[in-house]
Amino acid sequence: MGRLVALTGASGFVGGHIAQALVAAGWQVRVLMRRPPSGPPLAALPVDVVSGSLADRGSLQRLVEGADAVVHVAGVVRARTRRAFFQVNADGVANLLAAVHATAGGGAMPHFLLLSSLAARAPAVSAYAASKRAGEDMLRARAGPVPWTILRPPVIYGPRDRNTLAFFRIIAKGIAPLPAPDAARVSCLHASDLAAAVCTLLTAAEAMSGQICEIDDGCAGGYSWRTMIETAAAHLGVRPRFVRIPAPLLNVVAAMAAGAGLVTGTAPILTPGKVREIRHLDWVCRDTRMQTHTAWRPRVPLDTGFARTVAWYRREKWL
Ligand SMILES: NC(=O)c1ccc[n+]([C@@H]2O[C@H](COP(=O)([O-])OP(=O)(O)OC[C@H]3O[C@@H](n4cnc5c(N)ncnc54)[C@H](OP(=O)(O)O)[C@@H]3O)[C@@H](O)[C@H]2O)c1
Repeated sequence: MGRLVALTGASGFVGGHIAQALVAAGWQVRVLMRRPPSGPPLAALPVDVVSGSLADRGSLQRLVEGADAVVHVAGVVRARTRRAFFQVNADGVANLLAAVHATAGGGAMPHFLLLSSLAARAPAVSAYAASKRAGEDMLRARAGPVPWTILRPPVIYGPRDRNTLAFFRIIAKGIAPLPAPDAARVSCLHASDLAAAVCTLLTAAEAMSGQICEIDDGCAGGYSWRTMIETAAAHLGVRPRFVRIPAPLLNVVAAMAAGAGLVTGTAPILTPGKVREIRHLDWVCRDTRMQTHTAWRPRVPLDTGFARTVAWYRREKWL
């Protein structure tokens, strides 16, 4: 029997890739689920399921009991209110950490790996960014004897991702929206490389303990929106028309979407905070400590990653 890892967020896009990689790496995986696993990849993986949410103390204790490592991926990337972001992205960290403290007693402490976001680097940009930073701060302040590492990935993409699907869909229609200034730069990371980084970190836990690491696909300086669009368009087989979206227009649409979200009770995709994230000039990773201190290397450059992602979307009829 492999070592035991407790994983949250496994039903989501990123967590699903991490669950697959952990199982493939020989870990015994125990996941927290709000609903029984119904589709790929979770339903086909040999994982133990603990029912419950990040707000449920008993479930969290059952999740982490006896675990050698805790990988905390669950989080919200869209929410109706600032409070709703903080309840999951910050309070969720505190609740999970409290469960680790409660179950570990005086014994060995599991390594706590928190999946944060590059957004945490700029908490003033949006409620999402602030909540991810608050989650990090919570872990650092309250960890006590629990060893921890924080990973800050940039944009993650790959099979099963519904967020970047919207980006591919609009380009497939022949439209290339430019929502940010030309100077804006973004780092990217394929989900399989992120999952491999998590597996590496759990085996090299000591080397990276107490560190906050940014990781990306190794493209120095990141990508412009134009490059990302042109790369996607090449694999979609289209020559899209570039359309610059002025900031005031984005802001009006976002304000209307946010207002509608409050009325209908749904979390809108575009909000004023999301617009500030999109228009932020520097989402570039410049951290190479993972490569310096561990054997992890990014394997999927953007061109290959977009080709595989488009092929997957087409195979699954998402595109
Ligand atoms: N996608 C990216 O580009 C990106 C980039 C950087 C960092 N991240 C981080 O990666 C994490 C996962 O993102 P994602 O894109 O995979 O999002 P996702 O597909 O929406 O998955 C979110 C996961 O979190 C779970 N979750 C949310 N609230 C929960 C709660 N209260 N209790 C228990 N589980 C809860 C969801 O469970 P249900 O299925 O039950 O809803 C789901 O498993 C987030 O922490 C995000 O900040 C993502």
